Amino acid sequence: MLLSRAVAPGKIILFGEHAVVYGQPAIAAPVTQAQAVCEIETAPHLDGLTIAAPDIGRRYRLEEAPPDDPLAVAVRRTLAELNIASPPDLLLTVRSTIPVACGLGSGAAVSTAVILALGRYCGRELPPQTVSDWVFEVEKIHHGTPSGIDNTVIAFTQPIFFRKGQAIERLNVHTPLTFIIADTGVKSATYKVVGDLRARRQAEPARYDPDFEAIGGIARQARQAIETGDIAGVADCMRKNQRLLRKIGVSSMELDRLVTAGEQAGALGAKLSGAGWGGNMIALATPETAQPVAEALLNAGAARTIITQVT
Ligand code: PMV
Repeated sequence: MLLSRAVAPGKIILFGEHAVVYGQPAIAAPVTQAQAVCEIETAPHLDGLTIAAPDIGRRYRLEEAPPDDPLAVAVRRTLAELNIASPPDLLLTVRSTIPVACGLGSGAAVSTAVILALGRYCGRELPPQTVSDWVFEVEKIHHGTPSGIDNTVIAFTQPIFFRKGQAIERLNVHTPLTFIIADTGVKSATYKVVGDLRARRQAEPARYDPDFEAIGGIARQARQAIETGDIAGVADCMRKNQRLLRKIGVSSMELDRLVTAGEQAGALGAKLSGAGWGGNMIALATPETAQPVAEALLNAGAARTIITQVT
């Protein structure tokens, strides 16, 4: 019998990835076209808690999960926070349509769905900040030193202006923005890109810090443009942000190719989104040009595209 269910969206970073790790502001938005779902059902008496992830062919008992298994960490932490001493007899099934390791926040979305579903199973609708804080603890396993942007935008499920360690600021989107998200098809682990950049920056802070500050300035400018409906201004910020992302060494040949193809097909602006070196890029279009831009991105080698609106 189904006892509870919860859904969490994917996300895109619109501005400020990487610089956000160094305290600069960034902008992110949920993507509801891709989502993670967690369903909790009754299990036979004394069976304990079983986690099933049929998409990746995994099914295991909580008590047998290794200490760093992210799903198990999310479950254990939530049960502890909810004062449930021993795991109840439950089957917890997780499914996700968010592609893994390409900057759409699949890890944070799965954790969010698990935490929300367990809360509901206990009769509680957990507040977004609580969910975000608990997901952040799980994110540390995936990413090492996450800024906290993924868990925040996904737990709150709304566009945010984010600064590490500061209270969430909601974004008032004046005019809906149409984005095409295109996957390079190249998997990229966030912790590797972040770690590589950290090592380079530690060796030469004077070379990187001005670029991080410039990216932070672009995020502030972009917020203003988004909140006043200045679409040309948003596009301009995307182009400037992409130039700096290339400069700090987190773009890639495949990302650059898609950015160029998108702009040639009529996108107003384009940039990588997330950690880089692979994963996804985003292109800003109008509702009319979204389809042709998506087709051009597929022709230029994108593995898949999603058209989404930030509202
Ligand atoms: O996990 P991704 O690919 O969305 O990248 C996260 C964004 C970074 O700024 C690169 C890292 C972080 O923790 O903010």
